[in-house]
This record gives sequence, C-alpha cells and structure tokens, in this order.
Amino acid sequence: MLFSALFLASSVAVSVHAGKPNYPAGVVATGTQGATNPPTATMPSIINQNSMSRLVSLNSIDDFCLFAPPQPNSLIADTEGEEVAWCTQPRNNARVIPDGVITGVSFLRTPFYVQLMGTGDFTKLNIRAGDAGGELDPHGATGAGNPVGGNVTTTVADGSDLQITEWMQYISSNQFCIRACTWANATFDAAHMCWHELDVMGCEFVMPGTYREPGTFETCDADIAYPPGWYPGVDASGKTTFSTFAQYFTGIYTGGDGQPTGYTVGDLTTPTTVAFVPQSSNCVTQATVKNGLAASLVTAGASGTAVPPGFTTTPTTTGGTAPTGNAAAAGGAGGSSSQAVGGSSKLTTSNTAKSTPTPNNGGGAAAGSNTASSSAPAVSGSSPARRGVSVGSGNNGESAAIALLSLISGIAAIALLH
Ligand SMILES: *[C@@H]1O[C@H](CO)[C@@H](O)[C@H](O)[C@H]1NC(C)=O
Ligand SMILES: *[C@@H]1O[C@H](CO)[C@@H](O)[C@H](O)[C@H]1NC(C)=O
Repeated sequence: MLFSALFLASSVAVSVHAGKPNYPAGVVATGTQGATNPPTATMPSIINQNSMSRLVSLNSIDDFCLFAPPQPNSLIADTEGEEVAWCTQPRNNARVIPDGVITGVSFLRTPFYVQLMGTGDFTKLNIRAGDAGGELDPHGATGAGNPVGGNVTTTVADGSDLQITEWMQYISSNQFCIRACTWANATFDAAHMCWHELDVMGCEFVMPGTYREPGTFETCDADIAYPPGWYPGVDASGKTTFSTFAQYFTGIYTGGDGQPTGYTVGDLTTPTTVAFVPQSSNCVTQATVKNGLAASLVTAGASGTAVPPGFTTTPTTTGGTAPTGNAAAAGGAGGSSSQAVGGSSKLTTSNTAKSTPTPNNGGGAAAGSNTASSSAPAVSGSSPARRGVSVGSGNNGESAAIALLSLISGIAAIALLH
C-alpha cells in the first residue's frame, strides 16, 4: 500500500525532494561517484563517444544507460572491469547509444526495484557478435565494482537522482537486463534483491518477468520477484520461510600451511525455474526509443564541443528535469531532434496489445533462453547451473570459467569469482 502510494507520487510529482522517503539501510549509496564519472547524474552533456564515464542512469524507457565495452569487438567476460556507460540520451558525460540499436525494451517499475529487459544489436556497443555475455555488479573481484567505479542512479524512486547501492546487469551481443534495487524491508534487503552471484543463470532466472520479442517498447508496473534463487516455503508454525539456491562451483585455495585444499560451494541440483514469474501491469507501449541525434554525431569516436542539438544549453544536474528544447527538424547533419525524455514523450505511443510473442531461437545470451513467454522461463539444456548462457567464444572470462566449472569438477581460481 505504502509502496504503490509512493509510486503514484513519483510519477506525478515533479518536485518531491522535500518528501523524500527514509530509505531502508543498504539502498542509497552515499559515496562519491567513480573517478571517471561526473559527480552527479547530468543531462544533457556533451557527446563524447570515447568517454570512459561509468555512470548509468535508469530513469525511463526513453532515458536509460547500459554498461558495455569501451573497445570494439570485446567479450563481456574479458572486459567486466572496464565497461563504460552508454545512454539513450546525451547524459552523464557518457557515450550515446545510437538510434536503432535498441530493438525492444520493457521498463518495469516495482516497489523494490526498477528493471529493464531488452534486445538490440549490441555489436554497436562494442560487444563481439555472438558473445553470450556476462554479469556486472558493484562488487567485482576487488570490491571496486564490475566495471571498476561503475555507479547507477535512478529518478524512478522519488524523482531525484537517487544513487543506488545495489544493482546488476547482464548483457550479451543481443540482449540485456538490468536491475537497480530502490527499496528493501526486513525480509528482502537490497543486497539480496540484487544478488549478484548467479552469473550463469541468465536474465530470466535472475530477473524474472515478462520477456518480449524485439519490437515491443513498454513501460509497466510489475510485481516483485523473490530475490534471485529464493524459494518460499512454510514452516511447521505456518510461517513463510525461504530456501535459497547457490550457484555451484568448486575451487582450490592454498592455506597458510601452503597446502592446496579443495572446496565446493553451492548446490549440485540447479532448480528448473524460478519460484514465480512476476506479472507486468499497466503497460504503456510506444513505437520505439530514440534521441533523434544524427548518426554522424554519435558514430564511433565522435565527440562534440557543445550541448547536442535539441537540448537546452544549460546542462541540468538533476536528471529528473527533461530538456525542454525540441528542435524542429533541421536539415543537414544536425538532424532532427525529437527528444523524448522522462515521459514528456514526443514519440508516438500506441496502446495496442501486442500479439502473442513467438519464441526466439536466436541463441542464448547472458539473457537466458530468450523465450518470450510470460509463463515459467524456459530452462533449456541438461547442464546443471548453466541456463541460457553459452560459453563465449573466448573461454577465459569469469562467466565462461564458472559455467565450465559447474560442468566438470574442475579447478577454479578464487580470484575469478566476483
Ligand atoms: C560508485 O562506485 C564505487 C565502486 O563500486 C563505490 O565505491 C562508490 O561508493 C559508488 N558511489 C556511489 C555514489 O554509488
Ligand atoms: C517485505 O516485502 C515483501 C514484498 O512485498 C513482503 O512479502 C514481505 O512480507 C515484507 N517483509 C516484511 C518484514 O515486511
């Protein structure tokens, strides 16, 4: 009740800073943004397609960012520490995702997190064709994040650029899912709601929801999933309890005595599905997402010296404020700028119901089996702990290594893990 009230408020109120809720512990990040990032979420910012900014904002279907590699033809597993922010709008000093790259996206608001699932041609974001991808989170091998110094903000929770402590993103060459955890309670804390240790399980397991075929662009409310890997049960007194699934892996560490010792973590049996798939509701669809920036402005290596056409020349530091400029189509390279930001959409929206999606057999992806079904996620393959993620073409990355380990009781380097 409280939560839905909150959401209603955030969707209609413009200035709600005064009424900011008291966030539960572990939700709001209090540190500084990473060294490569602007101090706060900023829009517009000058286009720089060589940017190393690692500040992702998840504000609306028309205004979000993803982490993807800085260099062309990269495997996610090889570059987890280095990914940079790519945004649908010129913001955060980050790179801009060219129009047409995103081919579908579901933007979900839930009381505990904001979640996007989508499809696209992410070779245009430097991911190698066919890369099954990997998982990114603010922890990483050194604790400095994957990518290092990667940060996430959202305006969805209360209208301000809230800095989020816990988030996770899976991305492959054609699919992504990303979640930022905006609320918590005594049962579901933010760290568990954005649990980052199920790298090989894929989007539909870790971030369940209604996965769509390419071509759907929708903003929805959604039910809250259980934390990844959690299964509810009932104890003798009728109280709800949870069992949890941990990804299986083995490894060897060398103790103080210099002797290598084997260890095993996780479960031998991988669950076949999630406890339940949260339903989406109140979906509003639109034709596409685009920033209207000319391709020449956002081509590889391009960098501008001025605020992009169509945006106000006064960069705002609060991403909650949409730029007011909406330049009429100007001929030439400057191109038209039909900005659609933060709900003040200039895009054509249609509320026509989508036809039943058909399964996409186009291959796995970090994003799970890619079956666009609202029923239980398809779990293909007989391999334990390996769902929808095929081992990438380079087998030297984290997710590849773990996937392999879960199949053969091999040897893992502890450093590879998270
Ligand atoms: C940004 O990310 C770094 C690395 O994970 C972290 O130490 C820092 O606290 C983050 N800052 C914010 C505001 O999220
Ligand atoms: C936390 O929120 C979940 C989801 O709404 C709910 O099922 C659970 O009972 C809540 N826990 C507490 C302690 O309020």
